[in-house]
Amino acid sequence: MTVGIDDISIYIPRLFVDARDFAVARGMDPDKLQRGLGISKMAMVDTNQDPACMAANACLRIMQKSHLSPKDIGRLYVATESSLDESKAMNSYVIGMLEQIYGDDSFEHCGGIECKFACVSGSYALYDNSNWIRAGESGGKSAIVVVSDIAKYDLGSSGEYTQGAGAVAMLVNDNPRLLEFDPKVTSTSIKNEYDFYRPFGKETPIVHGQYSNLLYLLQVKKALMLYKEKALSTGLIKLKAGETILDYIDFLSMHLPYSNMGKKALAYLLRHEWRKLPRWKKIIEKIGMEEPIPKDPRGTIESVLADSEFMTKDHEFTKKFSKTEEFQEVYDTKLASSLIASQMIGNLYTASLYLGFRSCLEFEFQKGTDLAGKRFGFGSYGSGSSAMVFSGAIKPTYKEIVKDMNLESEIGNRVKLSLEEYEEIHENKRGPKENFLDSKEEFVLIDVENIAESKGERRYVFTG
Ligand code: COA
Repeated sequence: MTVGIDDISIYIPRLFVDARDFAVARGMDPDKLQRGLGISKMAMVDTNQDPACMAANACLRIMQKSHLSPKDIGRLYVATESSLDESKAMNSYVIGMLEQIYGDDSFEHCGGIECKFACVSGSYALYDNSNWIRAGESGGKSAIVVVSDIAKYDLGSSGEYTQGAGAVAMLVNDNPRLLEFDPKVTSTSIKNEYDFYRPFGKETPIVHGQYSNLLYLLQVKKALMLYKEKALSTGLIKLKAGETILDYIDFLSMHLPYSNMGKKALAYLLRHEWRKLPRWKKIIEKIGMEEPIPKDPRGTIESVLADSEFMTKDHEFTKKFSKTEEFQEVYDTKLASSLIASQMIGNLYTASLYLGFRSCLEFEFQKGTDLAGKRFGFGSYGSGSSAMVFSGAIKPTYKEIVKDMNLESEIGNRVKLSLEEYEEIHENKRGPKENFLDSKEEFVLIDVENIAESKGERRYVFTG
């Protein structure tokens, strides 16, 4: 049975912090953010925005764009790591907001939950909803999967320059106009880790950034190896001598905590896939050094990170590899377009992968690339930690959806925050009603109850 993404919509807050202003304020070289990490702007929520209203705004946009009524929707899932409550699921707030537009109880037939596994939960939510449709349980209805997050780190920490906010809503059904998932190849890896986590009651995460970067690469590689086995055994991909599975993936969307992480992941996966192929010999000659090997043959993440000589040489090797024309060609044709939105918006945690997918569609379409039938590979990673690799093919009808994509107009007029204003928002010094921007035709938060019997109840309105 065909299942896939029929339509996609985004909601990105209009406030932003400029990476150059930020770097100057923190005494950093602006080039580190712009060239080193690939960050030019970080979207910030206003005082009257939260992950639930961003999710509801993205949902409303997809409902209106695809002319849907609540009866067309059988499930509404929200995947997030910016949970508002230990018990009440974020999709219930979203349903409440949508019912302000579509009428009381208009979504009461609809099921759904909030999903959590750091930045990978959106991929699990898509997979589970696809399987709900494959199982014949949907009764012809579609599912909406919304990924929504605020990436927030401590002031002055090394994570602070990888912040951002936004939501992506995806309509999943059995007659998708955009992308059809490849069946029986979705692959996962999982391990109990503490690379990034946010204990109860803490608003910002505890992060071991370099550890997390390496774990991301290892976990995605493991999931890719399993994907490869499945793609070959199901006959989805047939390899000839000297080929790799990545030769058959036309475009890649990777999890993007910052845009250059996509490039790092591509280099790592290509090295892994190419090193046993005849083409590697020529590349090694061009690079002019052998690929370094860690001292500890077990290759555990701890031993690799502790092996500083290996890490330095490996970093040098990766840099040289990334400059080869073989790497550049793959980078330019398969990945670069997916990184543009991340540079403009920043980190969206669970939504980052899907903003990257959206970015690739928009910017490849603008280049005039014919995407019909092209295979997209997705490399999803969530700290804690789990990875998921899956793929899908673009449908011939994709232009119906992609022709109207325009990130800049969909975000609207963006407003730059001064560093003082940014810090006021970051440190929660302003209440929901002390917002910076007037909003039009969108859901905003107006109040959070503080009295004991209704503490934490949140009220939202749709602005006229
Ligand atoms: N000009 C140009 N580039 C510069 C530079 C300068 N002046 N100074 C540093 N850089 C480059 C570095 O070479 C490096 O690039 P490379 O790895 O390709 O060589 C890049 O900028 C980042 O520098 P680094 O020193 O590694 O950054 P950091 O220690 O400040 O931390 C993160 C970066 C991403 C680990 C940190 O921001 C973080 O923890 N973020 C949150 C968690 C996260 O994103 N985890 C990722 C996995 S999900």
